[in-house]
Amino acid sequence: MFNQRVKIKQLLSGTPVGTDVVVMGWVRTFRNNQFVALNDGSTNANIQIVAELGKFDDAILKRITTGASLKIKGTVVESLGKGQTVEVKANEIEILGDSDAEKYPLQPKKHSLEFLREKAHLRFRTNTFGSVFRVRHSLAFAVHQFFNERGFVYLNTPIITSSDAEGAGEMFRVTTLPLEGAPKNDKGEIDYTQDFFGKSTNLTVSGQLEGELGAMAFSEIYTFGPTFRAENSNTTRHLAEFWMIEPEMAFSDIEDNMNLAEAFIKYLIEYVMKHNEDDLVFLDARLAEEEKQLPTEKRSGFGLIEKLKMVLENGFERITYTEAIDILLNSNHYKKKKFTYDVKWGIDLQSEHERYLVEQHFKKPVIVTGYPAAIKAFYMRMNDGCEPGKETVAAMDILAPGIGEIVGGSQREERLSVLEARMTAMDIPLDEMSWYLDTRRFGSVPHAGFGLGFERMVQFVSGMTNIRDVIAFARTPNNCEF
Ligand code: 4AD
Ligand code: MG
Repeated sequence: MFNQRVKIKQLLSGTPVGTDVVVMGWVRTFRNNQFVALNDGSTNANIQIVAELGKFDDAILKRITTGASLKIKGTVVESLGKGQTVEVKANEIEILGDSDAEKYPLQPKKHSLEFLREKAHLRFRTNTFGSVFRVRHSLAFAVHQFFNERGFVYLNTPIITSSDAEGAGEMFRVTTLPLEGAPKNDKGEIDYTQDFFGKSTNLTVSGQLEGELGAMAFSEIYTFGPTFRAENSNTTRHLAEFWMIEPEMAFSDIEDNMNLAEAFIKYLIEYVMKHNEDDLVFLDARLAEEEKQLPTEKRSGFGLIEKLKMVLENGFERITYTEAIDILLNSNHYKKKKFTYDVKWGIDLQSEHERYLVEQHFKKPVIVTGYPAAIKAFYMRMNDGCEPGKETVAAMDILAPGIGEIVGGSQREERLSVLEARMTAMDIPLDEMSWYLDTRRFGSVPHAGFGLGFERMVQFVSGMTNIRDVIAFARTPNNCEF
């Protein structure tokens, strides 16, 4: 019986006048004891329900409050009101669930994003979060469509692992050992052989290493799953639990990798522009409003949709790390000592440097390649012919306006001896990684891949400035509500 309901999006896009319909949703507002704005999350647009005066019991009308859920049987009629072509004249109103107006946290007014973060269990019911999460859904769908069209195999890599793919030591431990009185070995260390898996395990920081195993058989795979980082970064771009998409391609080099990443990002943007026009129009206006509150120098100067179109129409700038450092050193910004962190060859680019390059200098997405080997992960391919002391790897980061790093990737070191030497130098135990090294022992091929931070992509497309507002329930230091 519930299946007979029509979604509001469908109802508003051409259900003929005179049709009898069943609609269900939550009350956004109730005006003049007569007009209900009902929303079911299929679109930000509400359907206006008209409860003709005198037709319904006061007892029922009293229960039509903001947040209450209703089932309406009625007839589609032409609307005389502004901003809508049709409305529904109610014949029957059933209250599915009451909502105490005094206690319901979402009042029909504008709430701050900070307030809504604390009410994250209800914020999906606001226009902003309705649009953000429909856009997020579309992006996820487009991810699969993009790779499916190109013959990539979707590989689900494990969440619990015993390796640190990035070698950065930012892992959440997984254990069933007791915190107090954990068993110890002869050396007085915790004895993980007695743990659930018989070894020390953690939540994955990346599916890449297992992804590489897949690429060595299917040629092209991608992962799309949650990843976890125990980095103590309280910023608008870091989460402790985030989703990442990691394609991995055999028979590919860094150039192929850049081409795929650029095509991928453009495809995702194009998909949302085509399928979520209403949501983007809403988010564009929301961002413009937010930017008005900022001092002029902090405004981006572009509308959201305008920015997305620009990204689609222009090639990403491609520069080397060495060129990036030169640009920074020659900038007025540097000369006027406006960077907090020092700039010299060998540094890891800080977000202020990345943002300068993208937002001030190039004003479009930038792909930086050839980073110093010393600041990058063990699996990246050593570039040939480097000056001693200035060794670089075939890494690539994509930096996006307003976000900074959105993609991190590389061509992988396919030469067994070079890889082993690098791992040894970085204290990565070769025996534990024997399964990984097997790919280089048996039919090794040049291959490459990257990771796109899904939430950063949602931020970029939705214009939301804080990453906590593009994931349903954010996990950040000192915060694990819901
Ligand atoms: O640059 P990262 O650390 O690269 C990797 O994990 C590689 N294994 C990817 C690969 O080559 N297959 O992370 C990739 C992307 C970053 O560019 C960023 O967009 C996102 O993941 N990311 C985060 N997003 C939100 N919160 C965090 N704490 C993030 N850390 C990385
Ligand atoms: Mg990175």
